[in-house]
Amino acid sequence: MEVAAQPHLPFEPRPETSSRNVVSLFAGIGGLELGLHRSGLYHTEVAWELMPEARACISQHFGLKEGSDALADVTDSSFAGRLPERISLLTAGFPCQDLSQAGKTAGISGARSGLILHVLDTLAARPAANRPDWLLLENVAFMRHIGGGEAMRIVLSRLTELGYAWAYRQLDTQSFGLPQRRKRIYFVACKFGHGDPRAVLLSDDAKRPTVPSGPGWKNGVACGFYWTEGNRGVGWGYDCVPALKGGSTVQIPSPPAILHPTEGLVTPTIEDAEALQGFDRGWTRPAIGQGDDRNGRMRWYLVGNAVSVPVSQWVGARLAKPVTYPEARIGRARPIEGDRWPTAAWRVEPDVAAVASPECDWPLDVQTRDALGLPTRSLTELLAEGTSSRPMLSRRATAGFLTRFERSSLLAKTDTELREALIEALEGRLAMDSE
Ligand SMILES: C[S@@+](CC[C@H](N)C(=O)[O-])C[C@H]1O[C@@H](n2cnc3c(N)ncnc32)[C@H](O)[C@@H]1O
Repeated sequence: MEVAAQPHLPFEPRPETSSRNVVSLFAGIGGLELGLHRSGLYHTEVAWELMPEARACISQHFGLKEGSDALADVTDSSFAGRLPERISLLTAGFPCQDLSQAGKTAGISGARSGLILHVLDTLAARPAANRPDWLLLENVAFMRHIGGGEAMRIVLSRLTELGYAWAYRQLDTQSFGLPQRRKRIYFVACKFGHGDPRAVLLSDDAKRPTVPSGPGWKNGVACGFYWTEGNRGVGWGYDCVPALKGGSTVQIPSPPAILHPTEGLVTPTIEDAEALQGFDRGWTRPAIGQGDDRNGRMRWYLVGNAVSVPVSQWVGARLAKPVTYPEARIGRARPIEGDRWPTAAWRVEPDVAAVASPECDWPLDVQTRDALGLPTRSLTELLAEGTSSRPMLSRRATAGFLTRFERSSLLAKTDTELREALIEALEGRLAMDSE
């Protein structure tokens, strides 16, 4: 069921002179850029994004004009000439299809993920003074492993050749206050001598809280899962949903299911999905009716492919006010072993090799989030901000999942109470009349 229109303030761009410019590549619906805007220091000057549905969103929200500062294809011959002379920050959440576990795994030489190499070639052709001061890149966590780490080796060595100090880190969206478990890899680079990327991406380090075992369901906690994933454990989330997916390119939405303490077995609305990524509810409404998309299904694809907004808001806050990288942690850095790319690493001097860094994928605790103005919400709290009547999981999906789940031993060892509650909820759903 679609949520009724809600008041939703379009984002006000801030092109004051004190604001730094962002050039956004592969902009999608602007997850990276919105977070940077929210941090207060940046405005998006020009963006490239192939899909008209996504371009409609960023044009409207960031005040970009189609054809002059909201452009389509980075492989167009006009690309290099249209880049501004001075670029404070270049963002690129580049296509992941060739790097993801679910994809065709062509790797970094694939036609889509390989576009980042085209971008780096374009920067290499510019005089060093006109290369962006900072870069912020994002991709799927599997990029660390694919092809024996080849994608990492190639992208990172290109950054060094181009004159950049860099740090990268795998980060979980849940550490930024959103109830979605989503692990992605983020790269921050700056020209050698211009700053320290570790002070942006690595200094904050907290500890992943332990998931309480026992009667989760009875304590009013919602749990998310992919009913499509049979009885494999990967989809489970306690007080969170597993990573939202873009769905197929033919725009079949594949939202997770939620076992909700009062609503039963439901699926999130598209506006819940927007909120689970940190966007305002309704952020992708401008996509409706654009391109080939007549029914708004593309919104699921766009939201599932986006960067979670509070992650880039934190990056923006740390770019504005870096936190000196602790000396003690420099001592804990280790050489990178062969092609095993660790969760975090850095290289800040051209003549000194990259090192593996000790940080985990959970940089912020609740106090730091509060200090940064990043709200922390449980899954039930986030859902309570939207509609009170979400679609129930369909009978067919419920029946298929129940059969597979009963045959599995999933949760049997860790949380028998949750397992029983889920079976009860699945059976209860099947006992209802409605489809
Ligand atoms: C992983 S998504 C980026 C998501 C984005 N960071 C966000 O928060 O929504 C990659 C994007 O690259 C776009 N893309 C693919 N090829 C492109 C090209 N040649 N030129 C411009 N954009 C392209 C895709 O349409 C897709 O939206």
